[in-house]
Amino acid sequence: MRQAGRYLPEYRALRERFGFLELCKNSEAASEVTLQPIRRFEVDAAILFADILLVLEPMGVGLKFAKGDGPVIERPVRSREDLRRLIAIDPLEAVPFVFETARTVRRALGGRVPLIGFAGAPFTVASYVVEGGASRDYLHTKQLMYGDPETWHELMQRLVDVTVRYLNGQIAAGAQAVQLFDSWVGTLSPDDYRAFVLPHSRAVITGVTPGVPVIHFGTGTAALLPLMREAGGDVIGLDWRVDLREAWARLDHAVAVQGNLDPAVLLASPPEIRRRAEAILARAGGRPGHIFNLGHGVHQQTSPDHVAALVDLVHERSSLAVRGAAEGEPSEKNPNIAHREKRNPEGAACEPSEKNPENSALEKRNPVVRRRP
Ligand code: CP3
Repeated sequence: MRQAGRYLPEYRALRERFGFLELCKNSEAASEVTLQPIRRFEVDAAILFADILLVLEPMGVGLKFAKGDGPVIERPVRSREDLRRLIAIDPLEAVPFVFETARTVRRALGGRVPLIGFAGAPFTVASYVVEGGASRDYLHTKQLMYGDPETWHELMQRLVDVTVRYLNGQIAAGAQAVQLFDSWVGTLSPDDYRAFVLPHSRAVITGVTPGVPVIHFGTGTAALLPLMREAGGDVIGLDWRVDLREAWARLDHAVAVQGNLDPAVLLASPPEIRRRAEAILARAGGRPGHIFNLGHGVHQQTSPDHVAALVDLVHERSSLAVRGAAEGEPSEKNPNIAHREKRNPEGAACEPSEKNPENSALEKRNPVVRRRP
């Protein structure tokens, strides 16, 4: 999820000197923002500081981040005519600062934690392009989809091409995993997802450099999870509107899952945060392949101390479960690890770190994160 941002005083301090887009375009400052949460918390990965909408500016739609309003697209695409205006770009040339930031951060991390790159999924980016900004009902988007499916699919195809190159550019620059954000896809019915989105998300995911893990994220996706799995990804994101145990079962435990804590819980007291986080860990049942995370980004009103308390609790609980498994503690005593023992009796990571030294830092810090189901 988003881990940098306005809840951190050190981020707000930088934002006093730079506009949001300016910050993204200044690789030195963007690297600093990427590292801010890493310095403050014991998180297990760094998330590149950039934005899913950066590729839209060179495509000529007029991207602005207005104070308090979020992103604004000045020239939305709602017809075939509009689509013709969209400029074809090569992200490597059009947004070189993103890759420069990735290179700088990767160097600065020195292998301590892996770097996650990201992009918007074609639907979520298209929704901004068509709506002209944030939306509640996505009426313009649906109007285009239903009224002129040919133009819709062409717009999505254009975004697929850009997104694949954008992600692979980040990987070439040092990203060790990538996350595809389909934040607003939960507005669609399963039939519409299948017809208008799935083939395009699948095209992005299959286009990602082989061997690099893909996290496929969405919110409000309770009804879409099996279809998202069909579209692809090694990890499927879960928001807090689903029961982790049920959702994972509906994915046949065939993929890893990430998330599940409502970011609003971080506004509660530390004991309440602890209770809610433990409930999620209990639902995951120690099964390998759960990446603890928030179901969406950190709210601006969040106290950094509460984030720190959550990170520490998850590490404490995960290392207890893993130590229990490694010491062969009987499963009856520790029901949390029963599945791990059955499914993976050696407790071995699927990709041993000797074979994949890039990942060894993450494995050391949080072995639970490393294991695939
Ligand atoms: O460290 C990190 O977490 C990485 C940074 C990151 C940002 N955007 C920086 C950002 C990531 C992963 C994103 C992804 C992103 N951007 C998504 C998908 C994830 C999600 O939250 O659903 C979306 C939908 C966007 C588009 C976007 N960018 C919106 C809707 C907004 C405004 C929201 C807000 O909080 O004001 C942005 C701006 C943005 N992107 C901010 C940050 C830190 C806040 C900008 C500010 O400083 O004013």
